[in-house]
Amino acid sequence: MAEIAVLGAQGQLGRQFLAVLGRRARGLGRAELDLGDADAIERTLRRLRPQVVINAAAFNDVDGAELRRQQALAVNAEGPAELARLARTLGYRLVHFSTDYVFGGDRLRRPRRESDAPAPVNFYGYSKLLGEEAVLGAGAAALVVRVAHLYGGPSWSAGRANLVERFLARARAGQPLVITRGQTLNPTSVRDLVPAVLALLRRRSAGLYHLTGSGPCAAAEFAREACRHAGLCAKIQWISRDPRPARRARYTPLANQRWSQEGLPPMPHWRSSLAEYLLSAQNLPIRD
Ligand SMILES: NC(=O)c1ccc[n+]([C@@H]2O[C@H](COP(=O)([O-])OP(=O)(O)OC[C@H]3O[C@@H](n4cnc5c(N)ncnc54)[C@H](OP(=O)(O)O)[C@@H]3O)[C@@H](O)[C@H]2O)c1
Repeated sequence: MAEIAVLGAQGQLGRQFLAVLGRRARGLGRAELDLGDADAIERTLRRLRPQVVINAAAFNDVDGAELRRQQALAVNAEGPAELARLARTLGYRLVHFSTDYVFGGDRLRRPRRESDAPAPVNFYGYSKLLGEEAVLGAGAAALVVRVAHLYGGPSWSAGRANLVERFLARARAGQPLVITRGQTLNPTSVRDLVPAVLALLRRRSAGLYHLTGSGPCAAAEFAREACRHAGLCAKIQWISRDPRPARRARYTPLANQRWSQEGLPPMPHWRSSLAEYLLSAQNLPIRD
């Protein structure tokens, strides 16, 4: 019996947990456990009896969530609520992930703290907010970690590109990188995130934490730095309004306030994490 069950085993974050945890963890992809199926969740977890459940599964299609609302709610809110209910019954500890998209307003120009009131501007953010509220309100031993703009895992091979890979693919194709004016974010490498979450688990932390790479940065600066490491030229095409179906806030950094108040070491700066990711052997840039 594996001690830790990792849901969303084929996703970017799920794969990184599995790579770090090795034989201590059992990965469950969508085929083994559909988070939209409450009966399947109960059946599977009663059979496996893990001590910890890490839920890295989510309906992450931000634009798709506007149209497929029921599906987004099932995976991002109802499934996590069931995981939390079972955590109380079966006695496992639950780790669940949420997002900077629970915040939306652009007026407050400082990174959002755990104590700031959420106000999502799109359905994805709303469904994730319902999920975190359900987990935190279930009376279970649960940790909810809000993260943002993940990269650093092998998502390309899983058929989905992360932020860095999308920038590099466009630059390699000679296409401009489309960036909304004023877009500021907190890119976070899963290589930094996974050890930080495991540190919280070891400390038996519970409740809500923000965990992102240090140093909010302008999206354009991040794109330019990624291209520079890959030896590519970054042509930026500025837009003043994001044309995608789901609204997006321009300013979404999170402050890792609880983490730092507890005296934990600052998360690595986005510049060093990006360099580490792009310079590591498996990600050596392909130069055309
Ligand atoms: N990526 C980001 O930039 C970002 C930003 C903020 C927050 N987050 C949060 O961080 C967590 C991890 O994200 P990620 O980047 O690792 O996402 P990801 O790469 O998209 O992985 C999510 C996984 O969830 C699985 N999934 C979807 N619907 C499912 C269902 N009904 N039952 C079981 N599994 C299902 C997907 O399976 P399929 O492969 O079969 O679709 C996928 O493997 C999520 O909670 C996400 O909301 C991510």
